Amino acid sequence: MWYLFKVMSFILILGTTHGVFRKQRSVNPEASMNISQIISYWGYPDEEYDITTEDGYILGLYRIPYGKTNSENNSVQRLVVYLQHGLLTSASSWISNLPNNSLGFLLADAGYDVWMGNSRGTTWSRKHLYLTTNSKEFWAFSFDEMAKYDLPASIDFIVKQTQQQQIFYVGHSQGTTIAFITFSTIPKIAERIKVFFALAPVFSIKYSKSPLIKMAYNWKSLIKFFSGSKEFLPNTSFKRFVGSKLCPLKIFVKICRDVLFMISGYDLKNLNTSRVDVYMSQNPAGTSVQNMVHWSQLFNSSHLKAFDWGSPDLNLVHFNQTTSPLYNVTSMNVPTATWSGDSDLLADPEDVKILLPEITNHIYHKTISYYNHVDFLFGLDVYHQVYSEIIDIIQGNP
Ligand SMILES: *[C@@H]1O[C@H](CO)[C@@H](O)[C@H](O)[C@H]1NC(C)=O
Ligand SMILES: *[C@@H]1O[C@H](CO)[C@@H](O)[C@H](O)[C@H]1NC(C)=O
Ligand SMILES: *[C@@H]1O[C@H](CO)[C@@H](O)[C@H](O)[C@H]1NC(C)=O
Ligand SMILES: *[C@@H]1O[C@H](CO)[C@@H](O)[C@H](O)[C@H]1NC(C)=O
Ligand SMILES: *[C@@H]1O[C@H](CO)[C@@H](O)[C@H](O)[C@H]1NC(C)=O
Ligand SMILES: *[C@@H]1O[C@H](CO)[C@@H](O)[C@H](O)[C@H]1NC(C)=O
Ligand SMILES: *[C@@H]1O[C@H](CO)[C@@H](O)[C@H](O)[C@H]1NC(C)=O
Ligand SMILES: *[C@@H]1O[C@H](CO)[C@@H](O)[C@H](O)[C@H]1NC(C)=O
Repeated sequence: MWYLFKVMSFILILGTTHGVFRKQRSVNPEASMNISQIISYWGYPDEEYDITTEDGYILGLYRIPYGKTNSENNSVQRLVVYLQHGLLTSASSWISNLPNNSLGFLLADAGYDVWMGNSRGTTWSRKHLYLTTNSKEFWAFSFDEMAKYDLPASIDFIVKQTQQQQIFYVGHSQGTTIAFITFSTIPKIAERIKVFFALAPVFSIKYSKSPLIKMAYNWKSLIKFFSGSKEFLPNTSFKRFVGSKLCPLKIFVKICRDVLFMISGYDLKNLNTSRVDVYMSQNPAGTSVQNMVHWSQLFNSSHLKAFDWGSPDLNLVHFNQTTSPLYNVTSMNVPTATWSGDSDLLADPEDVKILLPEITNHIYHKTISYYNHVDFLFGLDVYHQVYSEIIDIIQGNP
């Protein structure tokens, strides 16, 4: 919350007195586009689906059914790759770079049918059958529910729609956490996954150094006060204004970069600074305060646990036991490939070291010494370091 406040203060203090609004740098048009618009802006076919979870949330599911370099025979069903974003981001994670460095476009051009999910509460998944986003009930969720309801709903829908027996799954950050949970607790879904690609895998976060998680841990009550127990980092139009109008201004470039890196770590060498306006307008994409509180409950703990509802009685209602249950990744059998970064503040190398030996069917691992949390999405060399290897493994598992 405080950094939105910081940016806002800058607008108020500097904006009017220094006339900075007139000194515009070039702006990328994608900074003011939604997911479908970005996909078609680059000349790719786009499809959008609203799917409903068992508990009534309506999620935006996006698809690039085929690429530009293989558009012949576009009625033939291709192998499916599903992409799941992380904490505070959205499906835009996979299409925010130039097409030659965005996983969504690269996979489509490599001949795959690409689907991109959006967890409940993000910019593109804010509808419910009967709850409104103004209600407390809508925001009473954390990644427990994303694993229990959102992933199964998305994967079931894709399997039905494409008639594929199995699909490939790529997750980043929290997108790996919910996969570890779903694939170890719901065998019916785990069976559908041919290979699970985990980028910046997050399970327990005992050693995490992310300022954002620490902030949530230390300032739980402040966050609740500011956002009234509902939404964390809300207001899309404000963010789009920041991303598309303020970040391109010279004076704000540094602040915008700082905000982006607060979530994940700092390394400007591997970032295309001319695209920070796109990254900033699409992120942070929002989540519930409860989700941030859940993460903060896990900070400094060696286990991944379900959300602690705050009292033995409430936990009994949700879990039929007085404490929140532990998740255990050892029961997951899905073939899993992992990429981690030694400079990642959120998926800390110490935590990754604990997680990796617990993955039963671990088929590949790579550590990239200089990678931070967002390099897996925005790194200038992410195609060479990560995406080309994902495509190789997929091609080796037809
Ligand atoms: C994205 O923008 C297009 C064009 O303005 C619009 O038709 C579509 O409904 C938008 N999608 C969402 C999810 O807002
Ligand atoms: C398209 O599909 C047909 C029949 O499946 C095949 O004979 C043809 O070679 C394919 N064309 C291309 C360009 O892949
Ligand atoms: C993508 O294209 C841009 C512009 O042509 C080029 O500068 C960049 O090096 C390319 N990136 C990759 C990963 O090929
Ligand atoms: C969101 O931000 C915009 C400025 O971009 C402002 O006009 C609007 O009132 C804000 N909405 C809420 C709910 O705070
Ligand atoms: C960096 O982003 C700019 C603006 O989108 C683009 O023109 C340029 O080609 C990108 N550079 C690389 C190396 O990808
Ligand atoms: C983490 O846990 C240890 C031992 O339980 C405790 O001494 C330490 O103060 C905790 N750190 C924070 C930041 O709460
Ligand atoms: C709740 O737990 C008790 C004791 O562990 C067990 O007997 C009961 O069947 C459980 N109820 C449900 C609905 O799982
Ligand atoms: C996870 O399950 C395995 C096998 O059942 C067990 O050995 C291990 O202790 C469990 N880990 C946790 C953290 O409960």
